[in-house]
Formats: sequence, structure tokens, C-alpha cells
Amino acid sequence: MKAQKRINQIKEWHQAYTDFRRDLHAYPEIGFDLSRTREKIKALLAGLKIDLHDDVGGGIVAVISGNDPMMRGIALRADMDALPMQEANTFTHASKIPGCMHGCGHDGHVAMLMACAHYLQKNRDFSGTAYLIFQPAEEGKGGAMAMIKAGLFERFAIDRIFALHNWPTLPFGKIAIQPGRVMAACDRINIEIGGRGGHAAYPHLAIDPILVASHLVTGIQSIVARNIDPYQEAVVSICGIEAGNMDAMNVIPDKARMIGTARTFLPQVQDAVEKRLREMIPAVAAGFGAEAKLDYERIDPATVNDACQAAFAEKVAAELFGTENVVRDLQPSMGAEDFSYMLLQKPGAYLRIGQQNDRTRCNAFLHNDLYDFNDDLIPYGAAMLAGLVEANSA
Ligand code: NI
Repeated sequence: MKAQKRINQIKEWHQAYTDFRRDLHAYPEIGFDLSRTREKIKALLAGLKIDLHDDVGGGIVAVISGNDPMMRGIALRADMDALPMQEANTFTHASKIPGCMHGCGHDGHVAMLMACAHYLQKNRDFSGTAYLIFQPAEEGKGGAMAMIKAGLFERFAIDRIFALHNWPTLPFGKIAIQPGRVMAACDRINIEIGGRGGHAAYPHLAIDPILVASHLVTGIQSIVARNIDPYQEAVVSICGIEAGNMDAMNVIPDKARMIGTARTFLPQVQDAVEKRLREMIPAVAAGFGAEAKLDYERIDPATVNDACQAAFAEKVAAELFGTENVVRDLQPSMGAEDFSYMLLQKPGAYLRIGQQNDRTRCNAFLHNDLYDFNDDLIPYGAAMLAGLVEANSA
């Protein structure tokens, strides 16, 4: 069976790609500042004699052609960046960079795509061309858009596109693939409140921005509860408030700032949340004689899988994992993913591969300081990605 042959061959390189992954984990880099990570990837690709383009919006595109390169082009995308957070793990490959951690497993995504590249380079009996995309700055910093603006879809003849993300709440050996919604749209809420500062003992002479902020927090929580259809998903979280001086118990400050995020799936729900915030924030502030300004920024659209491409990936996954291990109804996540921008350009799907096992360190969720990528995934993830390429032309 082809899937078995594929996985057996990739398993021979398991230790090498585990070492590669752990090295990336120990030296994480953030956003577009990925010089070490890029050099490591480029060195491996060059060692395998794979053509690469390293001038695509901070990312790298490796190109591997099959026996009939005029056939359809298929792209596979891995993100390369880490997070600005302190790792709490103490194992030997834990981050050596203070305040920086591969807390989302992008180190593992790179390792899986590299092992896939290795396999495809040695097994060229597929038609079409595989484009392996190593993307920078997935974590809220616009990496997907930077690659698109640099001509990703004009320079490379990509007809369909896939990405694979590890998923800590899904058991190892399973893979989640579904049509439609997978990850939510992510918007940033930034509120500036202007009041009038004064003496804490003379509140009637001041306009207290902290009182306005407090009312706004509760008011904003009414939007999901009272304005959104209960059958539609939405989250609004206020995650930061900045006001006053902690050394001054007797000074009313003149301004306050709040920041938060809205997560939705449907455009009309996203529009409704933004509209209600725009109406409510100045109105609540005006009720207290203050002013408030909302800066609402749409960061990532929702990640929505194409039904045909999801069905195609399901077939490939069923051969590799067994039909019973392809999960078709894993709950969509309110987290966000900038792969959504690529899915707006080309049909494709975002797949989630289970990494939970009975060794506790692989059970921490994404962005937790005890998280680590499960290296057992490397051959399976790589075989899944390579399987998409082989089936692309079958
Ligand atoms: Ni991630």
C-alpha cells in the first residue's frame, strides 16, 4: 500500500527531523525576524538539492516538480515563527532565548514539511508541481499577507493549498478534516477614553475615565448576550485596561485605554459586533460626560475550508490513518489563523492533526508555557502532506 510505503520511508529519517525540530525549539524566533530559522531551512533544502525561493515576503518557497510538471500545482504551508512568551519547560531542548518560545508547535510544522520535502525529492513519481511554503509571522503579524503581496500566487502556479496544524486536545493517531468553518475571524478592539483628571476627594470637579471603562466592560459583554443570535458564535473579550498611577491613590486620571478582541465566523455577525461597539462606546462615555474613541481593526478573516478540497484531504487521510481516525466534526476553534488569507485566494483546507498522548508534556494546549510539539507526529504529518501531493494527480 502506497501510504504504508510512504510512512516507512519517512520513519527512517525520524530521528534526524526530531533533532532538527528540537534545535528550532531551543532557538525560537519571532515574527519576520527569522534569520537563524531561515538559514537552517535553506541549508537543509540545499542539501537535498531542492530549488528554493527565499525572497517571498519573508518566507521561503521550495519547488519540487513531479514527472509531469505541467499538471496541477499544489501548495503546502508551514508557519515558522514562535511567540513572545516565557517557556516553563525544563527539558534539554527548552528555549534558550528568554521571553521567546515555540508555544504553538510551528517548529514541528517546519519539521513535518521538511520531512515531506525530503520524501518528495526522492520519490518524484507524482505529476504536477509541489510548492512548499515556509511562512513567517503567523502569530498576528501579517506573514501570510506579506507573502501574498510579494506575489506568492502570481509567481507560483498554485491551484490548491493545504496547511496542517498540531492539535493538543485531539488524540495522537487522529486527524480532523471538515468542510466549512475551522478557525474564527480575529479583530482587535482598541478604546481610548478621555475624561478630566482631578483630586480624588473632589470627584465632582473631574470626569472619571475609570468609571467609564468599568461601565464599558459590562456594557460590551451585553453585545454577545443580547445582540447576537444565540445559534451563531461570537466572543468579545476585554483583555487589558490601563489607567491611573499605582502610586497615586488620590489622583483621578484624565484618560484610560482598553484593549481586547472579537472572534466571529460569519461576516454578518462580525459586522454586528463592530456596529454595536461603534454605537455603544461613545454613547456610554457621553452618558458620563466623557469621550471615547474606538479603533476597530480586522486582523484575520475566518478560516473556511473548501468542501471539495476537504473531501480530497479526507480520502488521503483515510488511507494513512484509517477511516475511523479521520474526525469530521471536531468543533471549530475561536482561535484565528492567517492561513485564512491564502484560502481566500485558492481553494484548500486547514487540517488539524492530533498530538495528545499519555506523556503529559504533549497535552498542554497551544500557547501554554508547558506546551511542546509531539515529535511522534513528524512521520505521520509528513506522510499526510506528501500524500496530498501524490493524490493531487492520481
Ligand atoms: Ni499556530
